[in-house]
Amino acid sequence: MKNLKRLLVCCFTLWIGMTVLSAQSLESIEPGKKWLDTKGEHINAHGGGVLFYEGKYYWYGENRPERGFTTKVGVEVYSSTDLMNWTDEGVALAVSEENGHDIERGCIMERPKVVYNDKTKKFVMLFHLELKGKGYAAARVGFAVSDTPTGPFRFIRSLRPNAGQWPKDFSEKDIKKAKKLNPSDYKEWWTPQWRKAVNTGLLLARDVPGGQMSRDMTVYVDDDGKAYHIYSAEENLTLNIAELTDDYLDYTGDFIRIAPGGHNEAPTIFKRNGMYWMITSGCTGWDPNEARMFTSSSIWGPWEQLPSPFVGEHSEKTFYSQGTYILKVHGTEDTFIFMADRWYPRSLKNSRYVWLPISFKEDGTPEIRWHDSWSLK
Ligand code: GAL
Repeated sequence: MKNLKRLLVCCFTLWIGMTVLSAQSLESIEPGKKWLDTKGEHINAHGGGVLFYEGKYYWYGENRPERGFTTKVGVEVYSSTDLMNWTDEGVALAVSEENGHDIERGCIMERPKVVYNDKTKKFVMLFHLELKGKGYAAARVGFAVSDTPTGPFRFIRSLRPNAGQWPKDFSEKDIKKAKKLNPSDYKEWWTPQWRKAVNTGLLLARDVPGGQMSRDMTVYVDDDGKAYHIYSAEENLTLNIAELTDDYLDYTGDFIRIAPGGHNEAPTIFKRNGMYWMITSGCTGWDPNEARMFTSSSIWGPWEQLPSPFVGEHSEKTFYSQGTYILKVHGTEDTFIFMADRWYPRSLKNSRYVWLPISFKEDGTPEIRWHDSWSLK
């Protein structure tokens, strides 16, 4: 009896201890460490993005399983007022149980980004979608909407962007040249001839009829309310920036290509003092590589490529992470956070987050340094 009492007291103390620990409020961001939500669970919102709405931040990301690479649950959403302590708000967009549905359980939903449309008062989610059982061949973008930030979001459709359209900076002559190219004449990749053909529009032209491939992606809303979908097209060889319609649910048809053949993934973007900055990764799957940076004074380019903004030890591997979003902290002019994933392909659910502050050189060029721990206060 005494022993049982002791055991019960022990269990109770342990339970209280665990509750206190898990409810402990975080005072800093520790890149690469397990990041516990307010219930004490590691946050499951990978490849994510953050939206600020009416006093709260919402973090949307891939809910990934312990094992495996396909989507079993959907897009998860967390909320926070301080960017450190996050409450799990549940599944914002759930997979469908219907056979053959675009977002049927077992599809792959990646890199969701949610933006608020001031005109329609709707929350719009775009995400990279791969159809069930097709690996990464579908290369589509999915659209979903909701009246509230936490959802549930309603899936609208998936597609490949800009079917029938040519980039806005392509002249009639450029289109003619691109149309003449035939992928079967360039079976060997990475030769100088192949590079030239890709640049001229070998894969662009191939995909014009059905729409451009769309894999790693982000969405950017500019100061004037116009939104842009930025995605890896042409077998991940070329980035596209495509303007969305006023309701953010379709394309206006205006798009440009950035760094054709440059093999850029994981696009992230922000604007500061009238300059746009884009930070991307190379293409090595779940393995980290060196980030790239581009800048332009107009969203429509020309985009100039600069060296990686990462400095210090392991900067050549982007501190073992891959970007997913750049967040401008609400109410600040100059506080930007580079959000990245440190992928654990053996257990994607347990992948870590690497959030780092962006600093600026005197000439305005962004720089990102490692911090074991940092805070916004
Ligand atoms: C990465 C990409 C991830 C995921 C992964 C699959 O390059 O950034 O979002 O698609 O490949 O291998």
